Amino acid sequence: MTDPSTPQMPEAPETPDLPDLPGAAEPAAAPDASFASDNVAGVAPEILESLARIGGGTALPYGDDPVTARLADVVRAEFGARAEVLPVFNGTGANVVALQALLPRWGAAICARQAHINTDEGAAPERLGSLKLLPRPTADGKLTVDDVDAERRATGFVHAAQPLAVSLTESTEVGTVYTPAEIAAVAERAHAAGMGVHLDGARLANAAAALGVGLGELTAAGVDVVSLGGTKNGAMAAEAVVVIDPDRVAGVDYIRKYSMQLASKQRYVSAQLLELFGTDLWRRNAERANAQAARLGRRLAEIDGIRLSRPTEVNAVFPEIDAAILAELRRRYLVHTWDAAADGTPVARLMCSFDTRDEQIDELVETARRASAAPGAAELTPSVGWSRDDSRPSGFRDGRRRRTSGAALPSRPRRASGAVPHRSGRASACAHAPRGAGRGDPRAVAPGSLRRRAARRGARSRDDARPSLAESPGPRRPSIPQPARRRLRARP
Ligand SMILES: Cc1ncc(COP(=O)(O)O)c(C=O)c1O
Repeated sequence: MTDPSTPQMPEAPETPDLPDLPGAAEPAAAPDASFASDNVAGVAPEILESLARIGGGTALPYGDDPVTARLADVVRAEFGARAEVLPVFNGTGANVVALQALLPRWGAAICARQAHINTDEGAAPERLGSLKLLPRPTADGKLTVDDVDAERRATGFVHAAQPLAVSLTESTEVGTVYTPAEIAAVAERAHAAGMGVHLDGARLANAAAALGVGLGELTAAGVDVVSLGGTKNGAMAAEAVVVIDPDRVAGVDYIRKYSMQLASKQRYVSAQLLELFGTDLWRRNAERANAQAARLGRRLAEIDGIRLSRPTEVNAVFPEIDAAILAELRRRYLVHTWDAAADGTPVARLMCSFDTRDEQIDELVETARRASAAPGAAELTPSVGWSRDDSRPSGFRDGRRRRTSGAALPSRPRRASGAVPHRSGRASACAHAPRGAGRGDPRAVAPGSLRRRAARRGARSRDDARPSLAESPGPRRPSIPQPARRRLRARP
């Protein structure tokens, strides 16, 4: 069923089959990830064409090329005459570079608890940026002047990291949108308190399209530095740090370099951003993603057992879905749950992108509709997804491990706790010595003493005579639990 009000995209080509690799294991059947994130989309054809257009040839590296120069003009026209653009590879990198440039070493950044920098960047701002985040609880992902006031109390207190920046996300991680007036209010209060203002704009285009404003209109009200998103809107590993007020940031060029976000062949990153922001592609793609999400939300809300937890403002839909329907959906789709309603009903996050097709929406809605008509059918069936409200992967919820797909979970090799596996499959003799203990090192255990110890323990075989690492003398690293494979899937 095609909704005539939705702007149409050319048919997306099928993903080509990849050649079989000799000896490769049969891949597990993957769940349909079409609505798991807007990152699942491919690259917009216009962007691929722009790359083909600039083609080969020679150009100066590291941004001293004509394409980056043209991008700089486009960015100045949009974000103000003093704006500087620094293309980077990804959104986490943009955030880490921007926040470091905004903060001194003693600084901290106020952010929403739900902020991507706080929840989904592997603590990169803290680890790589050496800065502190001050997460604030919010109902809708948006900070207010009250959050600035609450944290500014630490200003001047020598024992506290100094709140010297505010980081907003536009649109937010929970699909809400700050109006320009809301951004202006927070920015004004932040500046008055001596803080800089960062905007994580991984989905700035979606917010601007939803509000019917230009990108620069969202930042004009006091944003100092923006992480400008391209990847979710059709680019391929292309984002940018856009400095709007150079007086409030320091050393951003150097920080980008040591943060490993400076591309040598930068013209290919710049070309993508130029295609997006030098034309109306950013708006067309964002409008389409938003419109598809609105359509998906409308259709889901018509189904018994599904309610929208909040209005669909941009390209993310947050439906409360009765558990049995959700389980049925998860038999086929990768569905992340984001939250839980007051009565415990899971709140899922479904995202649309610029190339979400009508038929994909129809199929998901039909799957949900059938599940709603036959409640209970999906109980105890395999399910896939990641749940923010439940720190365990969803497959563990009913207390026993369930499979995510047709393929059996690989069984873990059993071994004595702490023993170092050897290529032969046996515990390595290196396990006798602590890390770094070489031949002749007094910390290394002599084979004779091992035998004596084993004899005391009543060991039955030579192999048993080898102590496990847990029993070996000297310091050792605690074993690091490996994340369950399923936890690594998809998001954010
Ligand atoms: C709000 C927000 N910021 C930044 C990012 C960028 O992350 P990445 O480093 O995966 O490009 C994302 C990606 O999901 C995001 O949702």
